[in-house]
Amino acid sequence: MSGTDDEEEHSSAIKTPKQVITVLLAAFAFPVAIIMLLAQYVTGDPSVDPNNPKFSDEAVAKRLKPVGRLVLAGDSPQADEKMAGTSQAAATAPPAPVAAADGADKIKSIYTTSCAACHTTGAAGAPKLGDKSTWAPRIKSGTDTLYNSALKGKNAMPPKGGNASLSDADVKAVVDYMVAEAK
Ligand code: HEC
Repeated sequence: MSGTDDEEEHSSAIKTPKQVITVLLAAFAFPVAIIMLLAQYVTGDPSVDPNNPKFSDEAVAKRLKPVGRLVLAGDSPQADEKMAGTSQAAATAPPAPVAAADGADKIKSIYTTSCAACHTTGAAGAPKLGDKSTWAPRIKSGTDTLYNSALKGKNAMPPKGGNASLSDADVKAVVDYMVAEAK
């Protein structure tokens, strides 16, 4: 057993500066390089071709389109197609039915939304629509009195039926309608 054999067995494999560099590369530089590549992969630009038709404004808007949308009674079905994501379509959409409808239909719809809750059921002692006996004494007191009660309120009857956005003319027209129904 010579001393050289022993030394050979237990000494490090790294003996020359060249080997030190190799080990440094393998243990340090290599993982760092991999981390840099990964970072580049995650943060790098996704290679999207802007000329691809799938990424056109129209196609993207179509994909982002909501699954459903509210259709009002007065909306034309063509408005659906125009809704392909452009706000212009909304601007040119036909007006809501309430604004479009006129005359008797409008008055009846105001009655239904603002007055019927009390005047169809007779809630809180409201004179029922079409109930001649409860309306007769009120009609006798004069149309102006009725207008005034409807506009300013009377006991449990709130001003304008609680809908302050109604115009005076509309409220008066609804009173006329209620009076006509009671005759
Ligand atoms: C919250 C319930 C309620 C709503 C909503 C309501 N009313 Fe009345 N209304 C009453 C009650 C209660 C009376 C009876 C008041 C009384 O004579 O004491 C009444 C009475 C009236 C009268 C008779 C007033 C009089 O001088 O005899 C008129 C006209 C009238 N309402 C019109 C309307 C109109 C038009 C609307 C909708 C725009 C409306 N009301 C909505 C409760 C309501």
